[in-house]
Amino acid sequence: MQQMWSEIDAYIESHLIPEDPILTQTLKNTDEKGYPDHLAVAANQGMLLQMLIQMNKCKRVLELGTFAAYSTMWLARALPDDGYILTIEGRDTHAALGQENIDNAKLPQTVELKVGRAADILRALPSDTEAFDFIFVDADKQSYPEYLELSLDLSHSGTVIVLDNVIRAGDILDPENHKPSIEGIREMYQAMQNHPKILSCTALQTVGSKGHDGFAIAIVK
Ligand code: DHB
Ligand code: MG
Repeated sequence: MQQMWSEIDAYIESHLIPEDPILTQTLKNTDEKGYPDHLAVAANQGMLLQMLIQMNKCKRVLELGTFAAYSTMWLARALPDDGYILTIEGRDTHAALGQENIDNAKLPQTVELKVGRAADILRALPSDTEAFDFIFVDADKQSYPEYLELSLDLSHSGTVIVLDNVIRAGDILDPENHKPSIEGIREMYQAMQNHPKILSCTALQTVGSKGHDGFAIAIVK
């Protein structure tokens, strides 16, 4: 099935996703530096992030897990020129690649990349940090329950939170699978269930060029 999923993603992309030199350049540089692209969002998923931001006329975006900053480019495309993105990456090598791609993109928006464990960086933000309008959680899956709570703390009513990779080809249902990443995702589902700070939430499973996975989405009360 993987081949058909990839072909359909290519079909969708060729019809509905406009060429963008910044996105192309980001993927090219990432490939040339020898990094695989499976960690990056697919283009049609990137477009969905862009649309969710546009729908809410967001200005301040938080991203946990920068990797090559390909998703960061999609977030930036959705923002007005005075928009702001704080993106956090835990791995030095990924952060260096992401920063290089951000520098090359010469985006009009302010994109700040911080390196370190997202939870530590978020806790160290000044207490008067303005709430974010949109939050994309795509860092280490083990810490998703913690990232969900920290994201909610940095939200206002109406903030949309998207969490990537919450299906993992069905691994979340495998009772034998006790990997920290999978346990983290399961705990996230439990935390989202009837959460007092969440107005509504769901998760969608997706198939495509990145395999079988999915994302969760929540609106803050
Ligand atoms: C992995 C992480 C991601 O954020 C993703 O989108 C795909 C794969 C991973 O760690 O394998
Ligand atoms: Mg991801």
